[in-house]
Amino acid sequence: MKTRTPLVMANWKQHGSEAALTDWLTSVSAMDLPKMCRVLCVPLPYLAKLRQHRAELQSQVQAGSQLVSAFCGGAYTGEVSAAMLSEFQVAYTLVGHSERRQWLDETASARRSQLNALWQAGITPVLCVGETALEHQQGQTFEVLLRQLSEVLDGQTAGSLVLAYEPVFAIGSGKPLSAQSAQHIHQQLRLMLGRWYSAADCQRIRILYGGSVNKQNAGEYLRQDDIDGVLVGSGSLQAGGFNALCHTVAQAVTPLAPA
Ligand code: PGA
Repeated sequence: MKTRTPLVMANWKQHGSEAALTDWLTSVSAMDLPKMCRVLCVPLPYLAKLRQHRAELQSQVQAGSQLVSAFCGGAYTGEVSAAMLSEFQVAYTLVGHSERRQWLDETASARRSQLNALWQAGITPVLCVGETALEHQQGQTFEVLLRQLSEVLDGQTAGSLVLAYEPVFAIGSGKPLSAQSAQHIHQQLRLMLGRWYSAADCQRIRILYGGSVNKQNAGEYLRQDDIDGVLVGSGSLQAGGFNALCHTVAQAVTPLAPA
């Protein structure tokens, strides 16, 4: 039986509004799911509102950020440091999401510095890795994943981590990787982590699947031995859909009572 607490992360990307946040958090916080960790990654301007509502609602939903500066502070116009995020009680921050790698030219060196900044601030990075459709078709998945891990973890004193496996072609496409294929890759990823983490840590690190996860398929992922949660984009925007998804996950991870 898995001992890792399931983690369901909502990634709003560049969506939402203050009003939407109020409605979403009110609805999602009303659902009591004590054995699961739920995180909402909002656009940065909404972090203050999220902190305020979480307190008012005594919400179990934790605060997440979609980005962090590679710099710890100083004259870097527009950047937001890890220390600032922690003032808003951010517990998790995405690092290296494929959209930032693809459209915003985020480099491996920036990702390394982001990890460090987050570790220093006591925030858990959610490191995103994943191959493109072409790399997948050419059988390069494991090579690519190992490279993506190595370029950010080699030579670092690695700290707390969540890993998110997101095949690029599955993101926002409505074409998720099957739970069985994802399990096979997650198993290999856990083995790869052994290069930087102790055996005990490798068992503790949660590996999420992301890419077209919805309320219909979420449970199937969580039933796999090495899939410890899901990172959800479009399926997280509506509170009703997200609640249904979390409910499915809760059912999938609750062991059946002995007959
Ligand atoms: P999606 O996005 O659920 O809309 O495919 C996932 C992600 O980008 O994290």
